[in-house]
Amino acid sequence: MTPQITVLDAGGQYCHLIARKVRELGVYAEVAASETPASALAGRKGIIISGGPSSVYDAGSPTIDRALLGMGIPVFGICYGHQLIAHLLDGSVQKGDQGEYGFARVEITRPAHIFAGIERNQQATHQVWMSHRDLVVTPPPGFDVMAVTSTCPVAAMGSPSRRLYGVQFHPEVAHTPSGQAILSNFVFGVCGCTKDWDPAGQVLAVEQHIREAAGERNIFFFVSGGVDSTVAYTLCLRALGPERVHGTYVDTGMMREGETEFVRQHFAALGARAFFVEDARERFLAALQGVTGPEEKRHIIGEKFVEVQQRILESEHYLDGQWILGQGTIYPDTIESGGAQAGKGKADLIKTHHNRVAGIQKLIDEGRIIEPLSSFYKDEVRAIGRELGLAPELLDRHPFPGPGLAIRCLCTDSHAKPQRVEEGWIIPVSSVGVQGDSRTYRPVLAIADVPASEDEIAELTNRRRDVNRTVSVVKTCRPVGELEVHPAHLTAARLDRLRRVDAIVRRISGESGFDATIWQFPVVLIPLGTPDRPDCVVLRPIDSVDGMTARAVRIPQGALDQMTRELMQVEGVAGVFCDLTNKPPATIEWE
Ligand code: XMP
Repeated sequence: MTPQITVLDAGGQYCHLIARKVRELGVYAEVAASETPASALAGRKGIIISGGPSSVYDAGSPTIDRALLGMGIPVFGICYGHQLIAHLLDGSVQKGDQGEYGFARVEITRPAHIFAGIERNQQATHQVWMSHRDLVVTPPPGFDVMAVTSTCPVAAMGSPSRRLYGVQFHPEVAHTPSGQAILSNFVFGVCGCTKDWDPAGQVLAVEQHIREAAGERNIFFFVSGGVDSTVAYTLCLRALGPERVHGTYVDTGMMREGETEFVRQHFAALGARAFFVEDARERFLAALQGVTGPEEKRHIIGEKFVEVQQRILESEHYLDGQWILGQGTIYPDTIESGGAQAGKGKADLIKTHHNRVAGIQKLIDEGRIIEPLSSFYKDEVRAIGRELGLAPELLDRHPFPGPGLAIRCLCTDSHAKPQRVEEGWIIPVSSVGVQGDSRTYRPVLAIADVPASEDEIAELTNRRRDVNRTVSVVKTCRPVGELEVHPAHLTAARLDRLRRVDAIVRRISGESGFDATIWQFPVVLIPLGTPDRPDCVVLRPIDSVDGMTARAVRIPQGALDQMTRELMQVEGVAGVFCDLTNKPPATIEWE
């Protein structure tokens, strides 16, 4: 499909969010590199320039083909995009050091198309979300200032006759309540787009595409039980029939309780006939014996995956010309970012790693690959899954990392004791964090009383340079000061313990309805305890949009009490903690 709207990626983490929000309006949108030549964008009904971390004054900062601003196509700049329009058309942008991050109130000073229906709201000002360093101080000649905030003299600007607009705030995020109305005003009111996009309505077209791409050949998948690979597999199964579509699931032994059975049952219910479970548990465990470092764990798991995949590819003859590889790649995975994105994290690194199996690389090089979901976002994949009749418990699953429980079972070679400090205790178990673009690996601060405000929690973690996380003590079998950190590795016994506690938390979280309100809920085992009870459990529920940033979420008291009661009865469990830290400065996983 030709997109009606193209979002030019100026390097912001919000660029895909903008395209998703436009698609939610029923209008097909794609993302393209900011420097895409204007000639390649002819025929678009509108262009949106995303935000980004750069300054228009930085050497090499993202720019756009200036001709785009004179073609009569409507253009809407957001944040950096707003500054870029001002800069390119001779307005002025002021360089800032400190920046403004968070809520602001914007006052609409001039009726404008993009604010249609909004300024009539009784409120004098509207809540918006800001995240910027530089700001526009003078709009380009011929532009009107359309909104201001207490710190932004040009919070919105536009030239209605040229159909060019810019806003300093982020209409695409949930924290800007009228944001979707503003995008809708631009897309329909200014650009004149028509509704042409309904992902669930694409099923038959996708199946037809699969038949054409496959021709006489068959398709095989490595499936994980996750949403993307399951939906992609199901589409292929429907397109070609069960004899021509094979799937293999590798049981690494790092999976959650009941996971392998869950996947087996669901694939049987889909009508899959050729579906294999490869039991690689012992191989992974043996390779991980005695290993403690997070990166080493990941590296070994990656290597083992490569080995197992290669063996399957060769022994099942999937490398001959009769087979092509199916993958659950989704749209954001296919786009090379144009700008200085914060890095897509290790998730992608690990995926690349798996995809580097020689056999898979050979298939990719020969073009023998099919990715039926490569133009869809996650929410759209779920909509397709629902259309296909897949079970909600499959579609609404939280994301689960490839290396599985291995990165939630913390290991160490040392003996150490918690250290009393003014705020609580420093627990000498290191976990991974992220600050700026660099990863940290530091101990944890444990506190007895949870501060009332999020700011106080953030302040606690930031004040102490020797930690990157703060947890609250929910319950321990002895006072924290009497517990000890002791050498611990990835053993079958510890993984079983983690599986058991994870299953308890998942059950209570599901039954209480809490699970449906959060994005992900890692449960972590740390080697802090007593000789009889060697491990403590850390609960890490978070809310997020894409995993790049995350907010720690409080567990409702009733559910937390029940979890704690049951967890303290599990063999070997010495205590329960709640992780209170946002990402950044912590990461979602502890590793
Ligand atoms: P962090 O811990 O970096 O995690 O804040 C961000 C998100 O990525 C997930 N994650 C992974 N997903 N393979 C994956 O498929 C991986 O190796 C991997 N590591 C982390 C993590 O669960 C969270 O949702």
